[in-house]
Amino acid sequence: MAKLYVNPKVKKGHINPELQGHFSEHLGRCIYEGLYVGEDSDIPNENGMRKDVVEALKEIQVPVLRWPGGCFADEYHWKDGIGPKEKRKKMINTHWGGVVEDNSFGTHEFMELCRQLGCKTYINGNLGSGTVQEMSEWVEYMTFDGVSPMADLRKENGHEEPWKVDYFGVGNENWGCGGNMRPEFYGDMYRRYQTYVRSYNSKQPVSKIACGANADDYHWTDKVLEATFDNGNGFMNGLSLHYYTLPTGDWSKKGSALEFDDKSWYRTLKATLKMETLIKRHSAIMDQYDPEKKIGMVIDEWGTWYDVEPGTNPGFLYQQNTMRDALVAGINLNLFNKNCDRVKMANIAQMVNVLQSVILTEGEKMVKTPTWHVFSLYKAHQDGELVESSIETQAVGVEKEYEIPDLSESVSLGKDGKLHVTLTNASLTEDKEIEGVFAETDIKSVKAMILTNEMHAHNTFENPDTVHTAEFEKITVSGSKVKFTIPACSVMHVEVEI
Ligand code: AHR
Repeated sequence: MAKLYVNPKVKKGHINPELQGHFSEHLGRCIYEGLYVGEDSDIPNENGMRKDVVEALKEIQVPVLRWPGGCFADEYHWKDGIGPKEKRKKMINTHWGGVVEDNSFGTHEFMELCRQLGCKTYINGNLGSGTVQEMSEWVEYMTFDGVSPMADLRKENGHEEPWKVDYFGVGNENWGCGGNMRPEFYGDMYRRYQTYVRSYNSKQPVSKIACGANADDYHWTDKVLEATFDNGNGFMNGLSLHYYTLPTGDWSKKGSALEFDDKSWYRTLKATLKMETLIKRHSAIMDQYDPEKKIGMVIDEWGTWYDVEPGTNPGFLYQQNTMRDALVAGINLNLFNKNCDRVKMANIAQMVNVLQSVILTEGEKMVKTPTWHVFSLYKAHQDGELVESSIETQAVGVEKEYEIPDLSESVSLGKDGKLHVTLTNASLTEDKEIEGVFAETDIKSVKAMILTNEMHAHNTFENPDTVHTAEFEKITVSGSKVKFTIPACSVMHVEVEI
């Protein structure tokens, strides 16, 4: 039996809803087909946005959406994507598949999508190949409420009122596709570009996000902060981190999303658990410059990355999604919660049809992936307070090298006054009895939902409901304790009324 200790009186920090954020790039069929089909499409849409997809995304309460990239962001020139659609420039998406980008989805369309989703906006600017003026004018175009060349242009294009830009990324992966810069150079560029990312409305300031490290590049974090920090001011609200989970760790042979063995299961989950080390070590460096934790760690790209599905365009990064992805999602979302004193946003890559998506589409059909179901189980944490918790774990795996702890958990006191416990059991073979001990708590009732299946289980357009959540009734309460058995290969949400 594993003991889960929860102390609801010890609050550890606020869980920003943005920890369950998303990312959408002009890549493959994420924007076009996945989210946006255009007003004239036969697929039911509202102002060009797919109704089925928007509905499914609203169910998981998408808190924030990042756009337009990714690597695409540092090649994107926003003025190509405004004004009458027939006049918008057609160009080649050089980075992703060499397809024609007709710019029919631009700033106005992104803002409309966020309006429909009811989510915050995270725009990623172009520092790699764009000018300071271009970045500055984009912010003016979107947010200035008054008379100015860019505000007037926005009005001419049909949007009288300014929009709210909640977050603005000053470049993406500038250590790689965003310009191959060294951290010292990027740090100086960041200082310069961010100066002109103005908050025109003091009541709605734009939070600025600097480009952070690739995985365990701690040198980048240190040097960017050294270059940007003057007397405790780093000119930023957030510093990003990108980390993808690869089953093999080898970019040239990542492995299949659907065909994998037990060893690959544990290897993948071991790779995803590296996120914990990354958060701790990058945080320790951030603490040197920002001990009060005013700057958020923004993990704005995370998730699994496999070989593309056979027969699909290699530049489109389309992959299926199984229970393995569900475990990856559950483990990471628990980790983000448990580090919410520093982690202020995380954006899974990517929302639809690319990498670890929550939604897949094919023509007019749509499926919710196992990862979507995990977000549906975890949404009760949004805006909650993390409370102290710990769980006893045992090592599981088929080879010593790839052993991992079987269980992971996080617990919050929700806005609804209930405790929300989310758990994962990564073992492929062992169900685990759990006794939850809630200090000084009189438990009134419990309700639980579970996502469980065999490791390869996934949803297809023919069988869209193979993997789905279900009510879990085999849970008992006695005073301040609960008892239940979490099956192997599952993710759970237990709601505790106190
Ligand atoms: O998400 C796919 C790509 O991964 C993004 O464009 C880039 O930022 C990262 O390397």
